Amino acid sequence: MYNFDERINRDGTYSCKWEKYKGTDILPMWIADTEFKVAPAIQDALRESVDHGVFGYHIPAQYEPANRAVIDWCKKEYDWEIQPSWIVWTPGVCPGFNIAIKALCEPGDHVIIQTPNYPPILAAPGINQCEAVHVDTLWEDGQWHLDFAALEQAASHPKAKLMVLCNPMNPVGRVLSQDEINRIAQICSAHNVVLCSDEIHCDLILDDLPHHPAGKQPSLADRSITLMAPNKTFNIAGLGAAYAIIPNPSLRHKFNLALRGHVPWVNYMGLVATSAALTQCDDWLVAQKQYLRGNRDYLVEAINQIEGLKAHSPEATFLLWVDASGLDVEDVQQWAEAKGVGPSPGKDFNLASFFRLNYGVSRSMLEDVVARLKS
Ligand SMILES: Cc1ncc(COP(=O)(O)O)c(C=O)c1O
Repeated sequence: MYNFDERINRDGTYSCKWEKYKGTDILPMWIADTEFKVAPAIQDALRESVDHGVFGYHIPAQYEPANRAVIDWCKKEYDWEIQPSWIVWTPGVCPGFNIAIKALCEPGDHVIIQTPNYPPILAAPGINQCEAVHVDTLWEDGQWHLDFAALEQAASHPKAKLMVLCNPMNPVGRVLSQDEINRIAQICSAHNVVLCSDEIHCDLILDDLPHHPAGKQPSLADRSITLMAPNKTFNIAGLGAAYAIIPNPSLRHKFNLALRGHVPWVNYMGLVATSAALTQCDDWLVAQKQYLRGNRDYLVEAINQIEGLKAHSPEATFLLWVDASGLDVEDVQQWAEAKGVGPSPGKDFNLASFFRLNYGVSRSMLEDVVARLKS
């Protein structure tokens, strides 16, 4: 019914992903948008707005369809009952975690971050004059795990004010279990650390696992900012709509104060697309996840057959974290690019011997990528 096999030409659209390698024979497999056309209901909703033709100011908190859609989505997808007043719209998840740091930390405070991690999360403490304290993600017992001993130690420092979590994890694709969330909650509570949880990938869980939003946990409700967005799931990142869910009024007030004057209201088209995505696209999302599962399984198997490369199947996301240390080359990014494949460089995530492949592409493009890497 939906054609994820279509190879859509994005030339001339100034796509960030395709511009990077423009004029070369390198297939862009880096930044996390997909090559898939959005669900028809999103296109229809946008078209209707274009036809209406007036694009004045809209206050996101007053845009009832999007707020209702978020409330219903949280109930349906995570059995989480949220209040309309808890939602704070932001033009992206990146502004969300930067604003959280600005709102809750003084210069010099410690912000705890797991590594490897999405580069803008790694950069956020420094941007806000804070110190990033890294906690490793370790491969143990057939699974990626946070180093809880390191987390406990980092949180116990008197300057530790905030942890920015990424769940599901980017780049490793791990979905945190209830037990792990409980341990994080316990550590944050014991040391009075607020948790800002980037959950942008939580609607792209490919294995049969539940998502546990930070703010839903009773012991975290009062000390958390949960960041969500339809951007990755419905491929509308260019429309810039995201939301923070902040149950605690005092934290929310600080967050809103930090936004004031710096961050614009979410644009109208983003609100329109979010409303359609969260209310009319369930079938499309099921089909997309099915397609992504097929791509993931194909790619993991192929990568593990290439000498020098190794990858573990991610539970979530359309991103594969590839260990290229076995290649024994100085620059693994250069190695991939020389083969005509452009992944995200592992060094940007704090692990230079890896690279990250975006498999949110048509199967035929993925087959091209595999053939090139094998050559
Ligand atoms: C973990 C994570 N957070 C945030 C973002 C970007 O979010 P936004 O475009 O809403 O700022 C990405 C995009 O790749 C991501 O992987």
